Amino acid sequence: MKNQLENIAQDLEKVEEILSNLLTGSYLESNINDMCLRVVKAGGKRIRPKLAILAYHALNKKEFYKRALNFAAATELLHTATLVHDDVIDKADCRRGKETLNNTDGNHAAVLAGDYLFTKCFMCLHDVDKPQLYKDVSNTLSALVSGEINQLENQGKIDISIEDYLETIYCKTGALFELTTSGVAILTDSTNEEVTALKEYGKQLGIAFQVADDILDYTSDKDKLGKPVGEDLFDGRITLPLIYALEDPCIDHALLKDAIEHNKLDIVLDCIKKSNAIEKAYEFAINAATKAKDSLKCLKQSEYVQMLCDLADHAVKRDN
Ligand code: IPE
Ligand code: IPE
Ligand code: MG
Ligand code: MG
Repeated sequence: MKNQLENIAQDLEKVEEILSNLLTGSYLESNINDMCLRVVKAGGKRIRPKLAILAYHALNKKEFYKRALNFAAATELLHTATLVHDDVIDKADCRRGKETLNNTDGNHAAVLAGDYLFTKCFMCLHDVDKPQLYKDVSNTLSALVSGEINQLENQGKIDISIEDYLETIYCKTGALFELTTSGVAILTDSTNEEVTALKEYGKQLGIAFQVADDILDYTSDKDKLGKPVGEDLFDGRITLPLIYALEDPCIDHALLKDAIEHNKLDIVLDCIKKSNAIEKAYEFAINAATKAKDSLKCLKQSEYVQMLCDLADHAVKRDN
């Protein structure tokens, strides 16, 4: 396992180099490069590039190394672009422990920085000769946009169904995880079975990851997360912990409804604590992570496949 961990660490360093190189150089673009570098280099867990690299090793297609690294960088750029735009939409002031671009440079510049990050993402795909992958990248972008729009449409909707919530989290998070893992299978000329397995793994992992994020919004703190907590309530996002708390017969429904409508975080937290909402939400996330792991059973077993399974467990257990 030690060698495998070293390989992954080395590959991730190479991805960092690709990211730095893409955002350095042109004098005319130095301002926008500087803004993008600030958010890209502010940290972030790099879970998408890590997934891409693990999937590449799990598939054992050494000849596609360079492409896999470029694709890993592309997924992080796409993700960061959506975060920069998301922070404009959510009027967020902190991301990855640093001030957001909308706070330091204003909404206009932040929107442009997000657009610029998309262009750099596409640049990373220049050596990929796979129409299917371009199609999947376009569909993922459409899904991300519809996820955010869906969320806006459902803002403050206390009676949102679990189905609507799941549709939103698949679009805003699951789709990019799915693209990350299945994309590597596509660009390495893997079999249809491998593409399908990694696609399902990414989708279920993304769902587990987003449910965990929605739990952490009620249970963690800003220092650990690098972004403010309690924001889902303030922004009118009714996520799984709240959906379950609202369903719990032990909870005073009218009190919780009023607290949600008037952003009374203390009362909402109290109701969530008294209910079984967090346990149920964790159960849901664990279930999705199990589905993710099960979908890898058809791959040739290796330390890297095991690492993909461990990552699914960690996505649920993480505290940041
Ligand atoms: C944040 O993603 C948005 C969600 C999908 C929950 P990450 O939690 O991967 O953010 P970084 O990249 O580590 O900052
Ligand atoms: C994250 O959505 C943005 C995307 C996945 C596109 P959220 O608004 O729920 O995530 P945070 O809490 O700002 O990271
Ligand atoms: Mg947000
Ligand atoms: Mg969130």
